[in-house]
Amino acid sequence: MAHTVLVTGAAGYIGSHTCVCLLEAGWRVIALDNFSNSSPAVLSRIEEITGRTLAMIEADVRDHAALSQLLQSEGIDAVVHFAGLKAVAESVSRPLEYFDNNVAGSLALLRALNLHGIRRLVFSSSATVYGEPQSVPVTETAPLSVTNPYGRSKLIIEQMLGDLAHADAEWRIATLRYFNPAGAHESGRLGEDPRGIPNNLMPYVAQVALGRRPCLSIFGNDYPTPDGTGLRDYIHVMDLARGHLAALNRLFRHSGCFTVNLGTGQGTSVLQAVQAFEAACGHPIARRFSSRRPGDVAACYASCEAAETLLDWRAEKNVAQMCVDQWRWQSLNPDGYRDCASASQQPVATPQS
Ligand code: NAD
Ligand code: UD1
Repeated sequence: MAHTVLVTGAAGYIGSHTCVCLLEAGWRVIALDNFSNSSPAVLSRIEEITGRTLAMIEADVRDHAALSQLLQSEGIDAVVHFAGLKAVAESVSRPLEYFDNNVAGSLALLRALNLHGIRRLVFSSSATVYGEPQSVPVTETAPLSVTNPYGRSKLIIEQMLGDLAHADAEWRIATLRYFNPAGAHESGRLGEDPRGIPNNLMPYVAQVALGRRPCLSIFGNDYPTPDGTGLRDYIHVMDLARGHLAALNRLFRHSGCFTVNLGTGQGTSVLQAVQAFEAACGHPIARRFSSRRPGDVAACYASCEAAETLLDWRAEKNVAQMCVDQWRWQSLNPDGYRDCASASQQPVATPQS
């Protein structure tokens, strides 16, 4: 019989792509989201892509009554926990919101799962817990440090999970440290839909390519990297989604807990990413150099050996494919999920390669 998985934050960027992967693999999916950073329109698109249905519960992970009712009635075998806030700069100005939503939210979820005897969990962590890496590629045993409340919330949750697993060996927990998620589902129907000005490079570049923003500011060209701009490990969101499926499968086959990086192992500079996007959209992207962004590191990319060994998983898509898919999504949905009328349009430009 198919397993049932609860996906918190299912309507978000990574959650929605993971739901597609899980449904296509035959899992029964219960989606939970409070839509604080997403749209309910996502769910019908997931169903449209997969031809399968998923149950949707509009609730906050901190809502004990809603969570209890759900856990009692749905026969849930495992949980993938995406729900949380993720904007670094916002976390600096509103730290309590981040600790409440991320830390207290995770705590509420863990207590409810414990109470109902559900002890298989996949948790969304981040490469941000490595702080300024002392060397690259970064392995899972590298020292951990954080520079902002968002990162601290992830590290605290990781530590909570470690203590919980230590106290009760029944828990099976996969902690996944994502590097830089990018791209979109190849259908052009699902993608990242940031509210306001995007914080991250790829959605910003996509909006400049579309003409929604005049120019990309490249934060620093004096880093000790080959072209002076920051090196990151961009990973296609569908590769990331497959990583969750692989992690869940492992939790059903093996006891114990594990922590793995999910990245490609390749560093790509800001300039290389912009060039890849120009190839995807077929026209130049206005850019200028500006000063470094506080808190940015020169280079951060993953060692992927642990994920290969433990999960038999590796990323398959490169930056060029991420840009093609991100552009298809952006050009078909210029206003994200607020623009559902564009459903039947074709991409405004064909990728060049
Ligand atoms: P997202 O904002 O698109 O998705 C998060 C979803 O959770 C949203 O749909 C939001 O409405 C929902 N949510 C937030 N708080 C909630 C709550 N209290 N109760 C119920 N739902 C709630 O973000 P994403 O990019 O899909 O990220 C998913 C997870 O992965 C987050 O935990 C994030 O910190 C982590 N992560 C993201 C990145 C990235 O670059 N996108 C990198 C590393 C880690
Ligand atoms: C950022 C967060 C990190 C979080 C990650 C995923 C900071 C300091 N770090 O990582 O905690 O886990 O997002 O959400 O915010 N860049 C530009 N111009 C832009 C935007 C970005 O030049 O307009 C550059 C950055 O300097 C960096 C690269 O592009 O070199 C990638 O930036 P971004 O997408 O924001 O990711 P990170 O900085 O790696």
